[in-house]
Amino acid sequence: MRRPILAANWKMHKTAEEARAFADAFLPRVADADDVDIVIAPPFTALESLAWTLRGSSVALAAQNVHPEEKGAFTGEIAPGMLQALGCRYTIVGHSERRALFGEDDAFVARKAAALLARDIRPIVCVGETLEQREADRTFDVVRGQLEGSLASVPKARAEQVVVAYEPVWAIGTGRTATPETAQEVHAFIRETLVRLFGEAADSVRIQYGGSVKPDNVDALMAQADIDGALVGGASLDPEAFARIARFETP
Ligand code: PGA
Repeated sequence: MRRPILAANWKMHKTAEEARAFADAFLPRVADADDVDIVIAPPFTALESLAWTLRGSSVALAAQNVHPEEKGAFTGEIAPGMLQALGCRYTIVGHSERRALFGEDDAFVARKAAALLARDIRPIVCVGETLEQREADRTFDVVRGQLEGSLASVPKARAEQVVVAYEPVWAIGTGRTATPETAQEVHAFIRETLVRLFGEAADSVRIQYGGSVKPDNVDALMAQADIDGALVGGASLDPEAFARIARFETP
């Protein structure tokens, strides 16, 4: 049985102080949610304050990005060991915004995932097609290519520590969610691809859906067989909305 994982991706929102205020409002709302993993990825500048505020709770800290090298002349970058020292348990890599706006490719994402695992940080590896690719019937090809490329350095024995996030680019921040059936179709395909890459371990890999997840659509998404969680942008900025998402209800 895969443990559901609900993650907040705050993107470039919230100062350290605002992150603390969020946690104060959020933690009491999820205090009894002990059958799910809840993760918050604030901007780098709020990691430390959030780490303090989350201490003693079961909510895990995550970063939104990382550089694959441990140190060196990489102005503006953050190393896996720095995130480990702050208590990050997860880190998002290969988000479509990083791929599209900052030119990150699968090979770079693969190096990040491997570097994180070496620090015992679980990578949340994002994949997903654009609207143009979906309309050209290329969804499966694109997602397969991203998975093979981005997971290329993950050894079979570590596969269970990886989280995959399927985020169709056309659904991110647009209010246009994939229907549960459309999402499940791609999630099942991702599972098949993971079986090919990792064998039996694929069964334990959690696959999140991301793209306009809200309190009013999370239940139907989470009811799908291969949807094991959500990666949430906009709706995760509000403590009440994200708490409702983390406490989704399936029949
Ligand atoms: P959204 O973002 O929930 O605002 O669509 C999701 C994401 O980009 O991870």
